[in-house]
Amino acid sequence: MRILVTGGAGFIGSHTVVELQEAGHEPFVLDNLYNASEKVIGRVEAITGKKVPFYKVDIRDREGLNRVFDEVKPEAVIHFAGLKAVGESVRMPWEYYENNIGGTLTLVDVMRQHGCKNIIFSSSATVYGDPAFIPITEECPKGQCTNPYGWTKSMLEQILSDIQKADQEWNVVLLRYFNPIGAHKSGTIGENPNGIPNNLMPYITQVAVGKLEKLHVFGNDYDTPDGTGVRDYIHVVDLAKGHVCALKKLTPGSGLSIYNLGTGVGYSVLDIVKNFEAATGITIPYVIDPRRAGDIATCYSSADKAHEDLGWKAENGIREMCEDAWRWQSSNPNGYDD
Ligand code: NAD
Ligand code: UD1
Repeated sequence: MRILVTGGAGFIGSHTVVELQEAGHEPFVLDNLYNASEKVIGRVEAITGKKVPFYKVDIRDREGLNRVFDEVKPEAVIHFAGLKAVGESVRMPWEYYENNIGGTLTLVDVMRQHGCKNIIFSSSATVYGDPAFIPITEECPKGQCTNPYGWTKSMLEQILSDIQKADQEWNVVLLRYFNPIGAHKSGTIGENPNGIPNNLMPYITQVAVGKLEKLHVFGNDYDTPDGTGVRDYIHVVDLAKGHVCALKKLTPGSGLSIYNLGTGVGYSVLDIVKNFEAATGITIPYVIDPRRAGDIATCYSSADKAHEDLGWKAENGIREMCEDAWRWQSSNPNGYDD
């Protein structure tokens, strides 16, 4: 299948392009490189041995999109492009709504004008808010988001659902990711956060590599087995494979499909620290700090629906996630600048 991958130079997008090529598809990457390096393209090509056509275009640029659609003639779009820093979204809500929502509206309009009505959208477990029950199934009601980033995901789910409802030619897959970590086994592509990482695993790997002094654990008084927050960490390569499996829901008449992509297993912050230490032999110094605003105690998925419908299941355990995150960080301490 000819697939346009927006945000394909980013963390999850680049891993997905690898898996698409390995599965025999033809991905084309579109990215404005706001949060990515063009070097990613060469590294993906080195992994798969195949060319990756790349277009430096912004999803808000209608003319640029028209040119790409005229040339590529994609049968489907996997839509990763977006801004994703939670704290930044609180400070810059307009920029988040304009980029994520404005950009997606333009993308979807160009898609339909080119007769391409198949889209897989990167959503997030954040749409469940403080979840009504655990493990979280797709039936769990959506909740209140605590930040504009989360609202862009929740609103875009609604927008894409409404567009599909109004025009049955659309096939829309909403994938709700839990916490993607890890990196490709080659150690040549991985997560490359700007500045001090907000998320747990990149923070830990930067402590391990000596760029940061110690981990700050945000609260140990949650109602969880050890008091620290529990999350469903998923290996980014498993997540990427979930997208390849989800392509089967882009056949005529599939309509709207919603899937959690998680492992179904929850680990606490201290579980992650212990597993990282066991996998790498490196001690991670940490202190307990107050809770972080907006955090919830526990969030993990039921991944049964994706297994039943798509035949997809996460295969990597926490040890591989830690080993692979570390291989990437230790061989690229400065990300793609190395
Ligand atoms: P990322 O920042 O590495 O990738 C996003 C890519 O989109 C970047 O390469 C960026 O340059 C590009 N981009 C941003 N705005 C653009 C625009 N206007 N036009 C063209 N390209 C643009 O992030 P990621 O972690 O790979 O996340 C991919 C998607 O998955 C995002 O939509 C994100 O919100 C979503 N998501 C991520 C996580 C996570 O923990 N990483 C969790 C849930 C959902
Ligand atoms: C965060 C985002 C969420 C996004 C998700 C995936 C927030 C409030 N939520 O979720 O919208 O979809 O990432 O990208 O940012 N922790 C520490 N110390 C740290 C960093 C994290 O103790 O330095 C703890 C957190 O309190 C949490 C766990 O580690 O319990 C995971 O945190 P993180 O990686 O930021 O992901 P989420 O908070 O689940």
